Amino acid sequence: MAIPDSFIEELVSRCDIVDVVSDYVQLTKRSGSNQFGLCPFHSEKTPSFSVSPDKQIYHCFGCGKGGGVISFIMEIENLPFRDAVAFLARRAGMEVPDEDGDKELAGRRARLLELNKSAARWFYDNLSRPEGEKAVSYIQKRRLTKRTVTNFGLGAAPDDWYALVNEMRRRGFSDQELLDAGLAKRGKNGGVYDVFRNRLIFPVIDVRGSVIGFSGRILDDGEPKYLNTPDTPVFSKSRNLFALNLAKRSKRGMLILAEGNVDVVMLHQAGFDCAVASLGTSLTAEQARLMSRYTKNVVIAYDSDAAGVKAAQRAIGLLEPAGLQVRVLRMEGAKDPDEFIKAKGPDAFELLLERSANHVEYRILAVKAKYDMDTDDGRLGFLKEATELLAENPNAVEREIYAKRVAEYAGVSAEAVQSELRGAMRKNSATERKKRERQAMRPELTVQPAAKNIRYENVASAAAEEGIVRLLMADPELVRYTEGLKREDFTSGFLGGIYERVVSRATEHREVTPAVISATLSPEEASQLTRILQGPVNMGNAREALSDYIDKIKTEAVKKSGRRDLLAVRDKYQKKKGLGG
Ligand code: UTP
Ligand code: MN
Repeated sequence: MAIPDSFIEELVSRCDIVDVVSDYVQLTKRSGSNQFGLCPFHSEKTPSFSVSPDKQIYHCFGCGKGGGVISFIMEIENLPFRDAVAFLARRAGMEVPDEDGDKELAGRRARLLELNKSAARWFYDNLSRPEGEKAVSYIQKRRLTKRTVTNFGLGAAPDDWYALVNEMRRRGFSDQELLDAGLAKRGKNGGVYDVFRNRLIFPVIDVRGSVIGFSGRILDDGEPKYLNTPDTPVFSKSRNLFALNLAKRSKRGMLILAEGNVDVVMLHQAGFDCAVASLGTSLTAEQARLMSRYTKNVVIAYDSDAAGVKAAQRAIGLLEPAGLQVRVLRMEGAKDPDEFIKAKGPDAFELLLERSANHVEYRILAVKAKYDMDTDDGRLGFLKEATELLAENPNAVEREIYAKRVAEYAGVSAEAVQSELRGAMRKNSATERKKRERQAMRPELTVQPAAKNIRYENVASAAAEEGIVRLLMADPELVRYTEGLKREDFTSGFLGGIYERVVSRATEHREVTPAVISATLSPEEASQLTRILQGPVNMGNAREALSDYIDKIKTEAVKKSGRRDLLAVRDKYQKKKGLGG
């Protein structure tokens, strides 16, 4: 069920864009009524990210992103529309109208999240209490900084059977809730006791910022080394990733997948803020899909032992079907990323990352793993896919070397592979050329770069359509003069949709702010809209401009229908009516 429009309206009006943006961006400059800061969506040194308190929109003159407060949250928190609305609602202290009616479960889940948050807070606070001393020295031993501790909200579970249970009871949580959250277990005598004892605590935080579970690493040599929250009504190990809440904001354009919690934490500390890990189990297809929502590139940085290599092969088989480009790091001379960084430093890891850019052998092996190499069909399939892979490699030497390798695996001659490879490369360059040609044909009307998926079929008409949107958004009263212009007259479905929305709201005398209009648009569309709104409007002769635009649209429509003869008729009709400027 859709969230009611009225709710969105109220939400947008209660979340001032300057306020919300300021949570993420320091607005340091002013120009007119606009405020500027460094764009959170691309790297830059001088501020080109502007926020308009009047229009309640943001727009980056550098990368072209823009929109209202909801699109901002969708973009920066990487959330779908619904979740962005919920996120803002929480911030504004509003309750999103409950659609599934399952209030009870929702209430229970909310309680468990409350409890988790409270427990996480307590674990963290323990670090500055005597009970946390052991954890603090462990943190130091592992060379984690204060900043890292705060960033991840690390904490200490004291060496005590009832410390958390007692404290959470005092804070008003029931034993049942402690059991449900996986924080306590029931003992033989019927009482409950703490699950996490004598451990360094890593809270697991989901992409919406809720503490959904915990991992705890033992502070000495006890067993098990790691303990994780079991699946609960708010926690699913197979559907979440450790540190994705932080990694989703990374500007590195990839995710690094590591095996261990400490690896992830150390990677972030060393500047690789895109690292995540699965939660004590091997990677699942759901986690692969989850990752694909945030990136197209995954670098596997599993342990360098045999088990790690095997796990990496398995992971490739899940990640590639999810549409991800996978690379694998080889950390020579270290067991895992944590040890590698401690031994060789962040720069060495950065180099590994760069070198992995085209880890051909690994990828060929991944392809090979997909086929049954004992059959002719399997070997043929492998040969075809492996040469396609090689054809994408820009390095001729590598192509040569690996073509030989592929030939060996497939049991054919190197010449056969070479000839297959030449075919695949010819095909690639033809596809590339077509793509370039298509791009050159695409009109760019507004400030660069135009949104990827919004294309204009008819440039002349679209320019007029953009003009109309710009005028009406500047002065919704002008809808009175658009009579007869219908959504269908627009050649751009996107602009037609906005037009319709503006007209219907304006006629009902409801707000027509960019923030409200862009609330229901995708981030790309919202960016496109704010780009359009950056264009010039001359309110001095708005009515004339409007009628010129309408004229242009109708002319283009007639042209398209191929009935130019109608143009003359239309002209005569307009003269009579005194329209058409
Ligand atoms: P490792 O044993 O490779 O640990 O387990 P590590 O990350 O190198 O740990 P440190 O450096 O000794 O602290 C990797 C991951 O496997 C899961 C945990 O998620 C851990 O981070 N694991 C491991 C468990 O769930 N339980 C265990 O007993 C051990
Ligand atoms: Mn380790």
